[in-house]
Formats: sequence, structure tokens, C-alpha cells
Amino acid sequence: MGKIKNIGVLTSGGDAPGMNAAIRAVVRAAIYNGCNAYGIYYGYEGLVNGDIRRLESHDVSNIIQRGGTILKTARCKEFREAEGRAKAYEQIKKFNLDGLVVIGGDGTFSGARELCQEYDVHIVGIPGTIDNDLYGTDYTIGYDTAVNTVVEAVDKIRDTASAHNRLFFIEVMGRDAGFIALRSAVATGAEAVLVPEIQTDVNDLDKYLEHDYKPHKSSGIVIVAEGDKSGGAYMIAEQIAERHPEYDVRVTVLGHIQRGGSPSAFDRVTASTLGVAAVDALLDNQTSIMVGIMNKDIVHVPFNKAIKNSKPLNHNLLGLTEVLSI
Ligand code: F6P
Repeated sequence: MGKIKNIGVLTSGGDAPGMNAAIRAVVRAAIYNGCNAYGIYYGYEGLVNGDIRRLESHDVSNIIQRGGTILKTARCKEFREAEGRAKAYEQIKKFNLDGLVVIGGDGTFSGARELCQEYDVHIVGIPGTIDNDLYGTDYTIGYDTAVNTVVEAVDKIRDTASAHNRLFFIEVMGRDAGFIALRSAVATGAEAVLVPEIQTDVNDLDKYLEHDYKPHKSSGIVIVAEGDKSGGAYMIAEQIAERHPEYDVRVTVLGHIQRGGSPSAFDRVTASTLGVAAVDALLDNQTSIMVGIMNKDIVHVPFNKAIKNSKPLNHNLLGLTEVLSI
């Protein structure tokens, strides 16, 4: 691969607040370095079908503060097959793309890794998912905003819970990971948190509610990650309500509001930093890596590592919820 001249950027998988800030950073860093920038629409679908357009600096004006993604996103089945990736490579050649920046989660990086193995393409990934479940980076773009959205919603629910002496089970996103649940539980002073990484024991929760919640508290909040193995907020609430008809139990599922909204300052800065870092990495002839942030430093993590390893939950935070919920 010679000198990088044309850089394509796409967003793929679930959207996350801050993706637009990352697109803006990639486009502007490319142009700043004398390259041409191309937007690839609808993720890998646009790469397979050639839905690709040149982007100028003004095309990414006034988007740093917007949620969603101006490039749209999709989960593309065709790209999972070798035939689909062959079509994508045809488009890469047709548009003379020397490098790609893909913004998304582990599904996005798995596809990119396959393409890098099969063809001579240079691809750098930017972690963009509200779930924060990518190994090798402390933060993924969108996570901070999603946690702030949850906190705002839970604070409101706390008001009404307290007014009625109610126990709420609040389900938050996180199909396979409890990062959103754990951080928002600490930030809202939740009574308990249930995450997919730890097997939920209804007896433990019950014991806690009997000894610590019932005697002293006027309201209770249990944050449940959607991927919790007990079957989600409704299921666990039903079990507790059956055991304790005296509790006034309610359930709220926060759902997709967690994926929208204007990105937080933290997400905008992370996205801007990683967008520029991704272009720098491409210009440095790197490929098949994710750019991330560890202990405030920019790091390069091979796709293989980012996809295969699972990121552990912060055990200090887990300990905090136990200590602070008495
Ligand atoms: O990966 C991000 C995420 O928001 C998960 O937390 C959630 O399980 C999933 O996407 C929902 O996906 P969809 O929008 O396709 O229902």
C-alpha cells in the first residue's frame, strides 16, 4: 500500500451519541493532512452497494452536538459472507479508497478484521457503542452520554418512588455487559444493581431488601441491565412482588432514549481525539487496529484483541454499590 490519499468513513451497528463528532474529526483530519474524505452511508451496506460520497469540511459543520449519525447505520448481513465482502472490495477499488475508518462496536470490528485478512485494505476502528464493552479502551463513544441520560431519568423516577414509598426496577441497555447499569447505579444511589457478568441470586436481593431497604427507606431503585441472566426487570420484579405483597413494586424500561440525544462534552472530546488518532494511524500505515484511550493515553489495539477479550467490570464500583446502599 502506497501513500494514503483517499479515506472513507462509516458508522455501523447500533448508533451512539458522539458518532457525528467522530465523523467530523475524521473528515477534517483527513482534509487537514491533504487527503480526500468519503462518507460511506448505512455502514457496510453502503460499502457493498457503493453508497459513497465525497465529503468536504462544510459537510460536517454543525454536527458535533447532534446525536445519531449523519452517515446512517445498519447491521449488514451480506457483509458477513465472503461474497458480500468481495463486493465491498470492488467498491473500495472503484472509489480508490486507500484507507477506511469504521466507527462501531465488536460486530463492526469483526467485519473489518475479515476484510483486512482477505484483501489489501487498511482499516482503523473507533470504538462507538453506548455499551462500553470493548476491550482495550477505557471508554467507548456514547457511553458517557448514555449514562447521563439514565441518571437524569432515574433521578426523576426517584422523586415519584419516594412520594409513593415504591420499589422500582429500572431496566437499562447492555445486552452482554453491565457497564451502563453499574455506573448509573453508583451515580443515582441505587439500592442494588443486577448485571449480566454476575449471576443474580434472588435470595440475596431479597435478603438485602428485607434487612436494609424495608426498615429504613422510603423508596428503592434496583437497576437491571437488559442482559441480566435473571430475565430482565419484569421477571425479577415479579419474583420479588410475589414474595413481598407488601412492597409497592413498579417497573420502567428506559429503552432507546439511552441511544439518543446530544453527546456530552466528554463524548465529544473523546470522539474528536479518536477521530484524529484514527486518521494519524492510517497515515502511519497501520491497519486492523482500534484506536482507544487507556489511562488518558491514546492506544492502538489489534482488532483481534479488542474483539476476543472481554472487558471486566470495575470491581471498585461494584464494591461501592454494596457499601453505599445500606
Ligand atoms: O449495542 C448497543 C445496544 O444499544 C445494546 O445495548 C442493545 O441491546 C442493542 O444495542 C439494541 O439494539 P437495537 O437497536 O437493534 O434493538
